[in-house]
Amino acid sequence: MFFASDNASGIAPDLLAAMGAAAGGYAMPYGNDDLTRAVEARVREVFEAPEARVYLVATGTAANALALGCLCPPWGRVWCHEAAHIEQDECNAPEFYMGGAKLSLIRGAEAKIGADALAAALDAAQPGVVHSAQPGALSITQATELGATYTAAEIAALCDLAKGAGIPVHMDGTRFSNAVARMNARPADLTWRAGVDVLCLGATKCGAMAAEAVILFDPARAWEFELRRKRGGHLFSKMRFVAAQMLAWLEDGLWLRLAGHANAMADRLAAGLAAAGAGVLNPIDANMIFARITLAQHRRLQAAGARYYLWPKAQVPEGGGDAPVEIRLVTSFATTPEDVDRFLDALRG
Ligand SMILES: Cc1ncc(COP(=O)(O)O)c(C=O)c1O
Repeated sequence: MFFASDNASGIAPDLLAAMGAAAGGYAMPYGNDDLTRAVEARVREVFEAPEARVYLVATGTAANALALGCLCPPWGRVWCHEAAHIEQDECNAPEFYMGGAKLSLIRGAEAKIGADALAAALDAAQPGVVHSAQPGALSITQATELGATYTAAEIAALCDLAKGAGIPVHMDGTRFSNAVARMNARPADLTWRAGVDVLCLGATKCGAMAAEAVILFDPARAWEFELRRKRGGHLFSKMRFVAAQMLAWLEDGLWLRLAGHANAMADRLAAGLAAAGAGVLNPIDANMIFARITLAQHRRLQAAGARYYLWPKAQVPEGGGDAPVEIRLVTSFATTPEDVDRFLDALRG
């Protein structure tokens, strides 16, 4: 009954086996190995992007911060949602790697940036005014921090606005696999065909031990990225083990099966919560559920050993048994139907 986060799950067996298989013998270091080259080829195939350059790192924060460092100059601003991970949870790593650029926050339901809100923000910018931060980049998250997805058309509308303002688009794809699995969409349609310049594709939350791919659809920034990754201490000497995970993940659609399973477990959990009279507060586009339960249910779940976060984090549950408590539940590739059903049994009491 572990619903605190998808990165609390372990490693998918195929990925662990792939690391084991890579453990014998020798390979050249720093990504000059066959597995790393095979990942690049595989990503190009999956994304129908023969020009794409692909770089592996081990955390989503490194991926986002290094990518944004390439996209936005020190005097620029990156527009992102106020709930974006780059704003809330990365300890200023993006600002650090951008060398002083700032994040400018946009509001919107479900942690999505709407085209109107972006247009207004871009209108208010003052390009060419020496006193003002210059337009730097747009960053969006797919699926969002509140478990929603952007359609290809929504992404294209945002990218068109960004391109109109002369800025590139970064996508935090920590849960991109969940979005693709849910929408049954072509990865290319949700990224470069819509105008995304850089995707940070996360495998860690969906079965890897630690593997994130920074995909530069425009190869022009590749050398700069390589230098930044090394300078930032993220060029692994034994890169083949990161590559082994990513390659196994992308093999034969495993990434979408793992993500699809997580999504299906979220559906099961959301349906059970709704049937038990709990409030399900978000559309279940991916593998996250925000729910309103009662304090009595929360206490029963805690006593039964269920793990999840109260959300928003600052909330302190108090009051009578009927008092509302808002929680976040995240399912993963490892969640079993039995986990979900035991949770629902404890909820119902
Ligand atoms: C939306 C999003 N982006 C990026 C990350 C990357 O996090 P980390 O640096 O912990 O791998 C996370 C992890 O929670 C996330 O939820």
